[in-house]
Amino acid sequence: MSSQSLLKRPRRLRRTETLRRMVRETILTVDDLIYPVFVMEGEGEKVEISSMPGCYRFSLDLLLKEITEVSQLGINAVAIFPVIPEKDKDETGSESYNQQGLVQETVKAIKKLVPEIIVITDVALDPFTTHGHDGLADENGIILNDPTIEVLVKMALSQAEAGTDFVAPSDMMDGRIGAIRQALDAEGYINVGILAYSAKYASAYYGPFRDALDSAPKFGDKKTYQMDAANAKEALKEIELDIAEGADIIMVKPALAYLDIICQVKAATNLPVAAYNVSGEYAMIKAAAQKGWVDEKKVILETLTSMKRAGADLILTYFAKEVALMLS
Ligand code: PBG
Repeated sequence: MSSQSLLKRPRRLRRTETLRRMVRETILTVDDLIYPVFVMEGEGEKVEISSMPGCYRFSLDLLLKEITEVSQLGINAVAIFPVIPEKDKDETGSESYNQQGLVQETVKAIKKLVPEIIVITDVALDPFTTHGHDGLADENGIILNDPTIEVLVKMALSQAEAGTDFVAPSDMMDGRIGAIRQALDAEGYINVGILAYSAKYASAYYGPFRDALDSAPKFGDKKTYQMDAANAKEALKEIELDIAEGADIIMVKPALAYLDIICQVKAATNLPVAAYNVSGEYAMIKAAAQKGWVDEKKVILETLTSMKRAGADLILTYFAKEVALMLS
């Protein structure tokens, strides 16, 4: 073939780094990142999570230091997950709406010390129940939808009272977004937002997180409320409901094995879309990097960029701090 006959040469735009930067379509920034953190009782304690190297359960005093640091790195938001001692767990998760509970005290302390950081609190019962399920269970182990919502509403209200910016229902009960929105509005919390875990799949990628919280379900699995990994249309049905019920931001979780879902969800809504780069996704990269099998920094950036390219406006990631450092 004569070189003159080849008129289209896409490689022209890849010739130099400057050119590649100029035509780059997706730019990951620190503004995209939300940092999930684990808080536990105690003082001066920081315990590494064995299946999540580089991630810690912090006592509140040390968590406050960590949050001050990440705020200085430019991270806008943190998502709080509590490690509840066995003695405070019960069948109904009543500790979840204790106004002096670990989550509530953590929110108050963060808002006092670093008021500008956006605080997101999880709404689901699994850290608080002896059985580890996100909802109430009957004597046969069936997870009860509507009675669970009553507890979730109390939990969301107590988090709002503590000063949270967003409540984030991750429980997958039907109708919880609407119930929580109505209750927040009725109590005057019109500015507390809802980040809805709308398309949350029953995923094996949550394993390390359940180690971190010691919250693995004691019986059965979560497949009667979390979604089947094989379904995409169902995700669109779920987001449609959550939007109609008043969600402000919708989330797809996990992220990496669900990039097609992020893409479809983004196309189906004008709301911001968040993706949760979950614990198992974090652990896989960390493990391969520790073995020297992949270049950790490059793989992290490529992975998070893929989520943004798929359509995620926001990414919850345990890599947030590392990435903020890399991008700064
Ligand atoms: C539970 C909850 C889970 C995660 C966030 N909230 C686990 C689960 O559903 O069992 C997982 C996060 C992660 O794996 O990083 N409400």
